[in-house]
Amino acid sequence: AVLILLGPPGAGKGTQARMLQEKFGLVQLSTGDLLRAAVAAGTPAGNQAKAVMDAGGLVSDEIVIAILNERMSQEDCRNGVILDGFPRTTVQAKALDELLTSTGQRINAAISLRVDDSAMVDRISGRSTCAHCGEGYHDTFKPAKDGAACHKCGSTELTRRADDRAETVASRLEAYHAQTAPLISYYEASGVLKSVDAMADIDKVAGEMATVVKSVL
Ligand code: AP5
Ligand code: ZN
Repeated sequence: AVLILLGPPGAGKGTQARMLQEKFGLVQLSTGDLLRAAVAAGTPAGNQAKAVMDAGGLVSDEIVIAILNERMSQEDCRNGVILDGFPRTTVQAKALDELLTSTGQRINAAISLRVDDSAMVDRISGRSTCAHCGEGYHDTFKPAKDGAACHKCGSTELTRRADDRAETVASRLEAYHAQTAPLISYYEASGVLKSVDAMADIDKVAGEMATVVKSVL
């Protein structure tokens, strides 16, 4: 199975993808996480991507498609994947179609997380991530244990992302509207588009997501 999560920065793609991964045994595949890992490892792709990510722009299709193809070919992706943050351009969407055709897979659903732009700065500026297990938190909406420790693994190493500054969030939103939002029509045309109200609280959104996913698996 292949599920795509579409939505602006802060819509809750990562949060929902992790919950779906646990519920349905699919593998969450976040191009943002893969790119951040490449940056941290100092690979050639990571070195090229870093400045673009810090500025809130989109990394080149070439780099992202190469990283995604490599990850999709790994053993653990065989049962199905949740694509979180990919595709983000029409070129990437077409590359994904080609890859899936060549492997005999299909897209079960592209789920659009609908949110107001005005909510995004609050969501992103309160975000932190467990450096040990990757669980995401929010200062107000999903606080860590005693404000400092991961509920899942107990680690107190909660980190903030370099691109989560208010100025950068505006550029990321702009990139979303210019380059990624057109994919909503792209997937509507191919008949796989679903949409959920992502302004509700995390558990309510998760409930709606699960209903959608059950209907397409
Ligand atoms: P990426 O890592 O994909 O970031 P993003 O798309 O900006 O999305 P976010 O991770 O910020 O948000 P999210 O929707 O996952 O929200 P989350 O669940 O964390 O990309 C980063 C960069 O990498 C890009 O800018 C680009 O440069 C590059 N890149 C990545 N993929 C690329 C591609 N395919 N092509 C080109 N470049 C690419 O939630 C946010 C916060 O809100 C959390 O704190 C959470 O706890 C909270 N929250 C979640 N849901 C709710 C809710 N319902 N109510 C209240 N709070 C909530
Ligand atoms: Zn943790």
